[in-house]
Amino acid sequence: MIDDILAELEADTSLEVGEQFAAVTARYFASTRAGKGQVSTPRSAEELAQRFDGEFPREGRPVAEIIARLEREVLADANKYYHPMYMGHQTSAPLPVGVWMESVIGALNQSLAVWEMSPTATMIEHQIVGWLAKLAGYGAGAGGTLTSGGTEANFTAMLAARTAAVPNAWEDGLGADPPVVVYGEHAHYAVTRAIGQLGMGRRRGISIPSRDYRIDVDLLIGALDRLREEGKSVMAVVATAGTTATGSFDDLEAVGALCEERGIWLHVDGAHGASALLSSRPPRALNGLRHSRSLAWDPHKMMLLPLAAGMVLARDEGDLERAFAQQAPYLFHAGKSARVIDQGIRSFQCSRRADVLKLWFVMQRFGSDGLGRMYDHLCNTARLLYDAIEERDDFENLHEPESNILCFRYLGGDRKLRRETSSPAGEMQRIDALNRELRPRYNREGTGWITATVLDGRPVLRVTMMNPRTGAEHVRALLDGLVAKAKEIEST
Ligand SMILES: Cc1ncc(COP(=O)(O)O)c(C=O)c1O
Repeated sequence: MIDDILAELEADTSLEVGEQFAAVTARYFASTRAGKGQVSTPRSAEELAQRFDGEFPREGRPVAEIIARLEREVLADANKYYHPMYMGHQTSAPLPVGVWMESVIGALNQSLAVWEMSPTATMIEHQIVGWLAKLAGYGAGAGGTLTSGGTEANFTAMLAARTAAVPNAWEDGLGADPPVVVYGEHAHYAVTRAIGQLGMGRRRGISIPSRDYRIDVDLLIGALDRLREEGKSVMAVVATAGTTATGSFDDLEAVGALCEERGIWLHVDGAHGASALLSSRPPRALNGLRHSRSLAWDPHKMMLLPLAAGMVLARDEGDLERAFAQQAPYLFHAGKSARVIDQGIRSFQCSRRADVLKLWFVMQRFGSDGLGRMYDHLCNTARLLYDAIEERDDFENLHEPESNILCFRYLGGDRKLRRETSSPAGEMQRIDALNRELRPRYNREGTGWITATVLDGRPVLRVTMMNPRTGAEHVRALLDGLVAKAKEIEST
């Protein structure tokens, strides 16, 4: 019996089998990038759950049979991020060489826990962390690690800040009066989740309202003054470079100067927007990164890598090591004086994929200039939509795009006429109800796919341009498609 399995294992290593997988991927690239077919599934979660509701198979099957099922039942109803009408979440249409590298990463199966398990990949990770830390303006003592994404990167930075604020927390806990963390109203939930995870108590998180979707610096000053008067210790201020909702950049210069003046750890969540450092015209706000002590930066967002590839950087590599103050004699062998090469001492994870290899490949394939041009191109696509909306009466932009994210709303018919004929409150209710219904109705049809959020308490439509193939014609098609759906809603 085991002989049969071993024979099949051997057969699966052949190029012939590998090519069947590559063919599926290439067919998927070809059909979706041409904009053929539905962007997402019209089927309900229940229908799809039923499809996969079978028993754990007792016997194996031929690869070709499973691949046929994969295409029919998985790919057909997956979200098509390569489809130029996909303008939804911050999940990229991944760069093809990044995708092809996935099989190499899997085959090599190097673990970044310790150098002896990944002799080359560990060195590449140090090199890339060094390059990106330098771009962020960090000096020679900087370090970092790849992470599963922005959530882990923010958590890691918060853990490091906790160690700096309460050095014996690892052994003794936080005591009766933990420090507080201050962040902007539009910070990603990863920040408050980290506060909860660290056992500080969610009430130790203080949210500062925004002005123009950026942390309001005057209110931040007021809050920090108040905390000082109350004798509360501030563990960190978290600013965001590229907020999830609107892609806005907090004023890192002002926030950073404030933190420096008061000796507060500034962490920047640049999961989305730190890739703007590659742009030929990065937002001025990023100059303020020089004040930060840690930075989250996700290559799987605006560097268009396939999931997962996140990263946390620290101005002082020692901050990360102190964050995870653990001994593991079976793993970490380095002597006390040498710089420890093993990345496991700086990471939340033990076994960790060599995601850095796809980043390394992509950097060589396109260079920082090529990646920067792609970043700019995605931002320009958001700008195309903004400009198209500015010219129309039936839509309204909610902000200027600072990156590749734009929030807007549909107003319906003749805006001026409607203003004259209804009360402002009634008008607002009508528009909100319409926008709430518009997104699911539009997405269900499958010709395009967008997201939604709530801004200033009102539902709005939101796009994130994550696909370099999305262009002017797709932007026009989006607005036409939304209008057609809205008219259907209005007429019922
Ligand atoms: C600003 C920001 N931070 C953090 C995250 C979380 O990143 P991830 O989903 O990679 O964990 C996101 C994701 O949307 C984000 O936009």
